[in-house]
Amino acid sequence: MKIVIGCDHAGFAIKNAVKAHIESKGYEVVDVGTYSTDSCHYPVYAHAACEKILSGECALGILICGTGIGMSMAANKHNGIRAACCSDTFSARLTREHNDANLLCFGERVVGIGLALDLCDAFLGATYLNNGNHVTRVAMLKDIENGTF
Ligand code: RB5
Repeated sequence: MKIVIGCDHAGFAIKNAVKAHIESKGYEVVDVGTYSTDSCHYPVYAHAACEKILSGECALGILICGTGIGMSMAANKHNGIRAACCSDTFSARLTREHNDANLLCFGERVVGIGLALDLCDAFLGATYLNNGNHVTRVAMLKDIENGTF
């Protein structure tokens, strides 16, 4: 499975650790930057990651900024993206299982490296429960997005 990963300057240190971790688990990683701690703008990297998912090149993504919030806000402006900002592993797992989230966001200033890796494992290791009310509710999200709700 191919995973896109991105960050801004405030998520750069943890992005490299996450990248190495998920590669060691066998995932192929597409890194859309940023590539240094020079100040930059998180919507640029959120947009680049969303394009990789929406084009079908990558199945899922991980975005890291200071809090994870700016990244998730920017990502959720894209039709077809369901980004979840998580700082606990229960939510990281459930957002795949129930919401069919395709992007995990978190903050380097919020979580430590150990929790960051656990969040990634929980998210990437979970599968969407493609049945019943979960399908109905995710379809409603799509209807809201498309103005047909
Ligand atoms: C950068 O200082 C910070 O605002 C950004 O990384 C992010 O936390 C925004 O949501």
